[in-house]
Amino acid sequence: MAQTANGTTAYGVVAPPEALQSAAYLAPNTRLSIPALIETNAGLGISRRYDTGAIALPSGESMAASWSMDTSREAGVMIGDEARRLGFNVLLAGGVNLTRDPRGGRNFEYAGEDPLLAGSIVGAMIDGIQSQHVLSTIKHFAVNDFETSRMLASSNIEEGALRESDLLAFEIGIEIGHPGSVMTSYNRLNDTYTSENSYLLTDTLKHDWKYPGFVMGDWGGTHSTTRAMMAGLDQESAGTAYDSRHFFGEPLKEAVRSKNIPTSRIDDVAHRVLRSMFAVGLFDNPIYRRPLDVSHDRAVALTVAEQGIVLLKNQDSILPLMSGQNVAVFGGHADLGVLEGGGSANVIPIGGNVAPDPGPRVWYGPKTYLPDPPVKWLRQFQEQNKGHVTYDDGADLRRVSDLAAHADVAIVFVTQWSHEGADAASMTLPDHQDALIEQVAHANPHTIVVLENNVIPEMPWLTNIAGLVEAWYPGSAGGEAIARIVDGDVNPSGHLPLTFPVDTSQLPRPEIPGAGFDDAISIQMKQDQNVFYTEGSDVGYRWMERQNLKPQFPFGFGLSYSDFGITQIHANGLQASATALNRSKKDGTTVVQFYVRPPHGTKRLVGWARIFLAGHTSRDVTINIPRRSIARFDTQRHAWRVDAGDYDVYAGLDSSDLPTHTMLHINTTAWLEP
Ligand code: BGC
Repeated sequence: MAQTANGTTAYGVVAPPEALQSAAYLAPNTRLSIPALIETNAGLGISRRYDTGAIALPSGESMAASWSMDTSREAGVMIGDEARRLGFNVLLAGGVNLTRDPRGGRNFEYAGEDPLLAGSIVGAMIDGIQSQHVLSTIKHFAVNDFETSRMLASSNIEEGALRESDLLAFEIGIEIGHPGSVMTSYNRLNDTYTSENSYLLTDTLKHDWKYPGFVMGDWGGTHSTTRAMMAGLDQESAGTAYDSRHFFGEPLKEAVRSKNIPTSRIDDVAHRVLRSMFAVGLFDNPIYRRPLDVSHDRAVALTVAEQGIVLLKNQDSILPLMSGQNVAVFGGHADLGVLEGGGSANVIPIGGNVAPDPGPRVWYGPKTYLPDPPVKWLRQFQEQNKGHVTYDDGADLRRVSDLAAHADVAIVFVTQWSHEGADAASMTLPDHQDALIEQVAHANPHTIVVLENNVIPEMPWLTNIAGLVEAWYPGSAGGEAIARIVDGDVNPSGHLPLTFPVDTSQLPRPEIPGAGFDDAISIQMKQDQNVFYTEGSDVGYRWMERQNLKPQFPFGFGLSYSDFGITQIHANGLQASATALNRSKKDGTTVVQFYVRPPHGTKRLVGWARIFLAGHTSRDVTINIPRRSIARFDTQRHAWRVDAGDYDVYAGLDSSDLPTHTMLHINTTAWLEP
């Protein structure tokens, strides 16, 4: 097949109008009635539709913070439907790289640090996308949690740890979502580029996991012809638009002619591509372009945002606000809109980008604010009862003090922009926002901070503020979602899908050499270094346990306006149950989490239930413990091993507050297929 990317030519073919100048276009074969593959980004909405715009979902972390596979699937259905309506049948979605560092530039495209949670959430989303007859990828395979030097660096990790962490997230995501394609990452894995890594693509993905779909390279991530093809890469994605030269196309024909690549391998590629196209229904359901159903799609984005916002601090029940108060809002352009991440996942908003300073016109920009201003929604609520809401940009700290001191409540909106291609050098908030928070909090004890961020910030002001709301990048309906949480129309139910460390000293790698937001192109290329994953599979909360560290907020944490408790855990074989109770009169939703500590290591999430509990009611929750989640990958025998011994089983509302405990005894060591 011939292909073009971004409207440029590749393999001598000029992109026709139906290619829509998007990520890639693989021309149809009219003789055999094979439809074109028209590919677009990404997992948070349809990117770069300058003419129509599209609805942006909240970030992947927000989706994962809902701990709801139903919500994630519904989000996938929505963006899959938008893709088809806009003329695409492949969505480059499914980001499931585990977050190993809170400074990672693309964390907002991923689903947190735990393989079971991330794999489940992303798998459900892929399933939703493909239900719309749009083929989805899962990406970036694998161990690509950083942007700094992503084109050159090698992620070095021991095989057992690899299988138990990042690869486990992919394995689960593939089992649940059945993505038609797997996209490789840019980095090298244990020295070999992932697009040439036969351990990854052939031995693990295609052999051990029996993956029937095709593997595509990332744009600029293919480096060879025979090596890549024989390692298991099925498709070069971008030709010379990004790769250093064409590796497939003519060079591939030549490699077959000279017998470096057997024709059986080419048949295998064709089979894999066509099989996925049939499986997703691309032949039976041709693309049918129509206008978007904007109000429906915005409602989906609103639900995701409401379920994903996490209430982190609520001293003296400062939240929810009462109506009729005088509220002073500061910063974050909260009068204009809400922030979104940059890079290939950036969605052009319907109604246009309202950022006052969209930044340089580069591929990872523009800095985008979606036109759903929190201030508008907060104002509607307060004005119902003669309250009012003022907005100030926070630039003049003297004025800030004065305004804050005269308000009943002050809300500081904090924004931190991240994008593909660069990591943050530190966890410090940019643009002197720490000083703004300190100033407001000093003037008014009823200060609430709302975060719209990717990088998890250090919080030197945490003890001085009364309320803290993690809104992530909250998507097209983000302003309304934030206001509905703050005003109490929605009872917060989100729980963190990643650990919030106190500062970088708690991380396995406190320094990221070369990181920063100054020059995203050279940062990706300049460091030819190896990243050693000494934490192995002890990612995030497991690292904290291993090092005996207390994070700022633990994995799984999230407050509610209700008061929930967990009691009475029981384990019966690999089934665990516990009782969840709502001790308050306020109805609400919580996430009951189960963790197991195997005899050989740190505790890990083994299951959860997101449940609604009316005021003063209780409910028993039962989960099945997946054997892989408590197993070790035995590299000698190349199989999962569930050791005989005693396992601690816990239930609770976050990974560090686990009030009920029991033991599970496994009599004999068991082995599972790889
Ligand atoms: C990104 C991929 C994306 C591709 C196509 C690359 O820069 O890493 O995630 O799908 O571009 O736009």
